[in-house]
Amino acid sequence: MGIVFDREKNTFTLTTKNTSYQMQIGPLGYLLHLYYGRRAEGCFDYLHLKRDCGFSPNPYELQNDRGWSLDTMPQEYSGANGGDFRLSSLDAETARGQRGADLRYVSHEIRAGKYALEGLPAAFDRGDECRTLSITLADKTSGLQVELLYGVFAEQDVITRAARIVNRGDAAVRLYKAASVCLDLPFGEWELLHFHGRHTLERQPERRPLMDGIQSVASKRGASSHQHNPFVILCEPDTTEDAGLCFGVMPVYSGNHRTDIELDQSGSVRVVSGINSEGFSWLLEPGQHFDTPEILLTCSVSGLAPLSHTYHRFIRENVCRRYIPLAERPILLNSWEAMYFDFDEDKLLGLARETKELGVDMLVIDDGWFGHRDDDHTSLGDWFPNTRKLPHGFDTLLNKITDMGLKVGLWVEPEMVSEDSELFRAHPDWALRVPGRQPAISRNQLVLDLSRGEIVDWLFETLSGLLSGLPISYIKWDMNRHLTDLHSAALPADRQGELAHRYVLGLYDLMDRLTRAFPDVLFEGCAGGGGRFDAGMLAYCLQIWCSDNTDPIARLTIQYGTSFGYPVSAVGAHVSTVPNHQTGRTTPFGTRATVAMAGTFGYELNPAKLTAEEKAEIRRQLERFRALRTLIGEGEYYRLTEAGKGRFTAWQQVSPDQGETLVSLVLTQPEANPKPLHLKLKGLDAESVYTLQAADFYGCNADMPALRLSGAALMYAGVTLPIMLGNTPSMQMIWKKSE
Ligand code: DGJ
Repeated sequence: MGIVFDREKNTFTLTTKNTSYQMQIGPLGYLLHLYYGRRAEGCFDYLHLKRDCGFSPNPYELQNDRGWSLDTMPQEYSGANGGDFRLSSLDAETARGQRGADLRYVSHEIRAGKYALEGLPAAFDRGDECRTLSITLADKTSGLQVELLYGVFAEQDVITRAARIVNRGDAAVRLYKAASVCLDLPFGEWELLHFHGRHTLERQPERRPLMDGIQSVASKRGASSHQHNPFVILCEPDTTEDAGLCFGVMPVYSGNHRTDIELDQSGSVRVVSGINSEGFSWLLEPGQHFDTPEILLTCSVSGLAPLSHTYHRFIRENVCRRYIPLAERPILLNSWEAMYFDFDEDKLLGLARETKELGVDMLVIDDGWFGHRDDDHTSLGDWFPNTRKLPHGFDTLLNKITDMGLKVGLWVEPEMVSEDSELFRAHPDWALRVPGRQPAISRNQLVLDLSRGEIVDWLFETLSGLLSGLPISYIKWDMNRHLTDLHSAALPADRQGELAHRYVLGLYDLMDRLTRAFPDVLFEGCAGGGGRFDAGMLAYCLQIWCSDNTDPIARLTIQYGTSFGYPVSAVGAHVSTVPNHQTGRTTPFGTRATVAMAGTFGYELNPAKLTAEEKAEIRRQLERFRALRTLIGEGEYYRLTEAGKGRFTAWQQVSPDQGETLVSLVLTQPEANPKPLHLKLKGLDAESVYTLQAADFYGCNADMPALRLSGAALMYAGVTLPIMLGNTPSMQMIWKKSE
């Protein structure tokens, strides 16, 4: 396992536990991609036959060899304006207007450990887990060098990739495109599984065959977006949860991203992923370099479930900079759906008392505590307490809450500014806007120019002031609009194309400094729910509010889609009130908890409005979650059904030692005279015997008999559930391995 350079064949082979990845320095120094897939020994250049393809040009030096074209050979990192008409990876222009890139091999280096990227989050080596391969390619005309960076995490089956573009010439070069990854899959049939959506309906999976030409998954909203999550999967048509070949492409990036997938004239597929090049340009002065965001690649040879497991583990262990197991994180009650903006000191203290009485660990004070904010028109940027609502000061209030034995969390939206704010009045030029044009307004707010160091410094000082002066254990970091009017008062005219990426670098810098300065504060990401749910944010935020939609039935598909790439420990999920504030639907209390337990679990309601019975139910829910949260947070997650299809949605968590499993099911379409409900479990030890510890039904009258079954019986014959009738009832079953 690891990285091997074969001098004779000129191949680089990266081997992980289950996969092989191979490249070759081909004719004229072009770096060819030979293979990525199930682990296999050998040199795979025999796969790529020379052939004369009409209108596919040949490099000048090979003019007598019509069989070799950049347009038909699989490339490792494609150039532009040469002989490859497929997707380019790098496109640059010199001061003399020489456009494109012709990249040829120069040198390589294999070293222990993991490469680092400047200013960007990236996977890290916890100690002797990773080896780095760096291959340098050069474009003679522009003087650009590209260092292709590969981090081989052999045991984890993950290969990370990024590119460092260095200007070795003596004049500035402008980049128009600098992809992180180019991955050619020359053979086979492929389907694209991607996760699209909108505010309050994020990450809806869609799987479809590739069509000829280019299909894209992209955002130019300045954030990874609700609309198109950057994570995509390519799979063979017959790939299921448990069998078949599939590849994951996961950008560790939170800004404008783009993954293009091209099915070309030869039936070959090219995936190019990285920063969205629309609107992007970057001026590289001599000696300067540009690092692209990292992409986490994995290949599963046995279906989608193992692919998800690989990402879940990898994000927890090698991406989250300071992972805290779910069992050690506070269970919270959030004030947003409980009170929205309508609170003051008394109301918050009342909420805190109720929260404590329920046995919840932390009260989060959401939007509305600062400036003179009573609605979403004002005060973003004025990160000091609202003296009308909190007349005795913030510290008095927070101390009173912590004296009750509760932790306190606070909502902030640091990247934004309201026109009606002291900050905006003092620094109108801190907001993004194109001179001479009124900026687009979204949720009555503007975006601060995080590409500017002094604004990032100001935010760091301001937030540090809050965090160091007050007993705050948790920050909910929100972002409630997307970027428009991209123009920075601080950048020269010829660098405005850098702004969107510089914004993200500023954000990462801020988050990096804050999380280092306050290592004990738990950061939860949020962008109007799950509008920035990506591996970049997960480097700093252990959890991300998955959606502003708290309806458990809507959450089924949202959390299902999210589960393909992201671990349960990252999924912010709360029990809210009924009728649900987003959909108006009424669901059983227990069903809301069943669904929220496929995430970090917490509450988003006002306990003062609950009945004594409901409060008792909350205590039971807390007990259940506390007992199971290691299994929930760090166990293997299995999708037992396709959410949103069929009568019910079911999923399962299995402890790493296969000793315990939680099975959850929500019946979304109860039927009269129903067919039996039958489930096959997954991930158990076939040889062991499991005992049913609990089978709890919510929103219906049903019962299960005592059962002791082998893992094989549970997985291959399955279990038949009792009839469940009612409005969206749910079930939780716990099975434990018998000694
Ligand atoms: C959007 C978030 O997703 C909500 O949970 C809440 O924090 C509001 N913003 C507050 O403005």
